[in-house]
Amino acid sequence: MYNFTKLILFGIYRGKMKFSKPISELIRERHSSRNYSNENLTITEVEKIQNELLKYNSNNYFFKLVKEKKSNMDYLLGIITNKHFSNIQFGYTFEIVVLFCTDLGLGTCWTGLFNKMAFSSCLDKKTFQKIGFISPVGYSEDFTSKKGRKPWSELFFNEKNQPLNKNDVQTYHEAIEMVRLAPSGMNLQPWRIIYYKNKYHFFVERKKGIVALAFKTLAIDIQLVDMGIAMCHFELYANENGLIGKWSKESSINHPDDWQYINTWIQISNK
Ligand SMILES: Cc1cc2nc3c(=O)[nH]c(=O)nc-3n(C[C@H](O)[C@H](O)[C@H](O)COP(=O)(O)O)c2cc1C
Repeated sequence: MYNFTKLILFGIYRGKMKFSKPISELIRERHSSRNYSNENLTITEVEKIQNELLKYNSNNYFFKLVKEKKSNMDYLLGIITNKHFSNIQFGYTFEIVVLFCTDLGLGTCWTGLFNKMAFSSCLDKKTFQKIGFISPVGYSEDFTSKKGRKPWSELFFNEKNQPLNKNDVQTYHEAIEMVRLAPSGMNLQPWRIIYYKNKYHFFVERKKGIVALAFKTLAIDIQLVDMGIAMCHFELYANENGLIGKWSKESSINHPDDWQYINTWIQISNK
């Protein structure tokens, strides 16, 4: 199982030095851009992105910026190099890259369903390599705003499984809101949180039926990737705002049968 201590270090590092704007602003700014101008990224932008990507190389996956020949469009690729990679960590990390691009004023769009052939030449055939997801990166010509989100009452709960009251979580209110604003595959918003006594228990409520079967054909577990993105938003906000805590695996939390437990943020201190 992946050690989340590492993610905490990521968060602290990012929160303190990385972005030019508050993380809550960047998260609100980011939306899926599906139309781009023909203009190429500048050399400086390419260098900045490439330097950023280098920080996330691991034994299990890495990220690459490539030019797709047919469209002449720049794409970020998330490439898996070890079958036993963590989908949560993969999603968490790529979202940092996405927010980094948002901070540069660039559009992105997480994409799990794409034409594999268009990118097959980017893979090293001699080793195990699979593309998990991609994102175009460029000058957005999308003027649509972010898609809608479920209300708090459908996503966040107290220990009695009643909708969470914003007053119950005080300084964490905005950290939880950052989860709600996260992108997710098909905008399914599978993240659920139960809050009880300074602990935020994260769960995934998986989509069932035909969509779940379609998801199984992908190289990634898309809803675990969604959980990684949500944890990234929560932790980046917490770290930037002095909400000290840590991830920990907890047991015996009461929850609806069809939710899968992911992880718990234990609040250590408030500002
Ligand atoms: C893991 C993941 C996979 C996604 N795959 C696709 C995709 O294949 N095609 C697409 O158009 N959008 C894809 N999206 C984008 C979502 O549809 C989008 O995030 C969601 O509708 C919310 O809209 P927003 O990103 O504008 O806030 C994906 C998002 C995530 C997080």
